[in-house]
Amino acid sequence: MLYIRFMFKQKTNIKDIDYKSIKPVFDSSKKRVYIETYGCQMNVNDSELVLAILQNIGYSLTKNIDEADLILVNTCSIRENAEQRIWGRLDVFRLAKNKKPKLKIGVIGCMAERLKEQLIEREKTVDLVVGPDAYRSLPDLLRNVEAGQKDINVLLSREETYSDITPVRMDENGVSAFVSIMRGCNNVCAYCVVPYTRGAERSRNPETILNEVQILVDNGYKEITLLGQNVDSYFWKNEKNPEKDINFERLLEMVALVNPIIRIRFATSHPKDISNGVLYTMAMYENICNCIHLPVQSGSTRILELMNRKYTREHYLERIAKIREVIPDCSITTDIIAGFCTETDGDHQQTLSLMNEAGYDFAYMFKYSERPNTKASRQMKDDVADEIKTKRLNEIIELQNQLSLESNRRDIGKIFNVLIDGLSKRSDEHFSGRTSQNKTVVFPKGNYKTGDFVNVRIISCTSATLIGEIVEEKPHETITELKNIIDETIQIVENKIKHKIKDKIKK
Ligand code: 5AD
Ligand code: SF4
Repeated sequence: MLYIRFMFKQKTNIKDIDYKSIKPVFDSSKKRVYIETYGCQMNVNDSELVLAILQNIGYSLTKNIDEADLILVNTCSIRENAEQRIWGRLDVFRLAKNKKPKLKIGVIGCMAERLKEQLIEREKTVDLVVGPDAYRSLPDLLRNVEAGQKDINVLLSREETYSDITPVRMDENGVSAFVSIMRGCNNVCAYCVVPYTRGAERSRNPETILNEVQILVDNGYKEITLLGQNVDSYFWKNEKNPEKDINFERLLEMVALVNPIIRIRFATSHPKDISNGVLYTMAMYENICNCIHLPVQSGSTRILELMNRKYTREHYLERIAKIREVIPDCSITTDIIAGFCTETDGDHQQTLSLMNEAGYDFAYMFKYSERPNTKASRQMKDDVADEIKTKRLNEIIELQNQLSLESNRRDIGKIFNVLIDGLSKRSDEHFSGRTSQNKTVVFPKGNYKTGDFVNVRIISCTSATLIGEIVEEKPHETITELKNIIDETIQIVENKIKHKIKDKIKK
């Protein structure tokens, strides 16, 4: 039997639940869940929330499909090929279920929200479909699934932020973690499916954000990335005192103040909303990383208008100029879409010229992919031929490789404070870490460990990686001088005491 819960909201009493463990439990005596995650950082963080909820009802994590009693695939709908990959994975999971008929398979996240019951109709092996705002109902849904039924909850919510649930961290290194500060999006960019799969924008209570950051710091994490589809529109209303309303600029400052050695990052910024206040806050706090992800999508004002981005090329370039003025060593990264509806070669040339003007350090680059029910799919024609999209995308990628290489070459000879993420992929003798600008640096290990901060001088690079060597810290001159003064003072005091004691003995 298929239970459909679009119409009413389920409540699980979250107050009764203990969500303290922030690392996964691996316990073969318990029911085991295997979780595979696709798509954005928000999905990675959502999988960690889901694991917190599941651990609380007795599941433990496994990294091996063959050991799993439950497979959950957290899905992405942003482009057609993201969904294709997931259909491919479901084929693999079907084979696992053929071998082990008791195995349950759940599809969660954006594709679950977009396709709803069609997912179960098209892929009979799927037992469970849960949208991004319905994870609290997983314990109830799984009870039905374990009893042999199929179940689905894709109810979107105007309030759900999962504020009170501490995610169970699935990262390997214990160094970097994501903290969601808001969910959903109100922007309705014409090409984008996110407002339909993740619902309306809502901000999370700042107290719970600070709590989660503190828990991560207490557990040894060194870098925290605040997540939202549009962090600049974060807003928490203080009903009693409007002077104490909290916007993103204020939240960023509060998080930076939790601990001065913990690095803070955030994503994603929106060019129409990023304020000077946020830039000044970044410049003021050493531990807020000098890196801004500012998706441009297109360099043509005409296309930006069709995309409903609500800014012009000129406005975007003004924001870039302001970033460079306030934070001169800030890296700027972006997202670009090639071949949106009606895009001409002239529009495309404007994208290339804007990339040159902005001098991006890094970019995510995509071919436009029409998504069902978006404004573009309803009102516009996907009229740029696929070969042209591919050609334009290749030109964008080629230019970006050049810009990334130039950006990395400018770093040669400079010294950066690097947070070590772990061993380099290519050599056990080298560490890989990141600069404040979020560039990857590879360097010989020395006597350091994952999670340490270390100064590294850049000696060469590729377009993707900086290559460096550790610079052992020499005590700063003023610190040496201060130490000498303190040593001398101690000597004087010790001598005085000795003389006093001698005087007393003489008397
Ligand atoms: N086609 C191609 N790229 C898209 N993006 C979002 N929707 C689409 C789409 N339909 C890209 C945008 C966005 C990033 C997360 O994904 O560049 O910033
Ligand atoms: Fe999609 Fe635009 Fe919202 Fe980003 S800001 S999630 S591109 S609708």
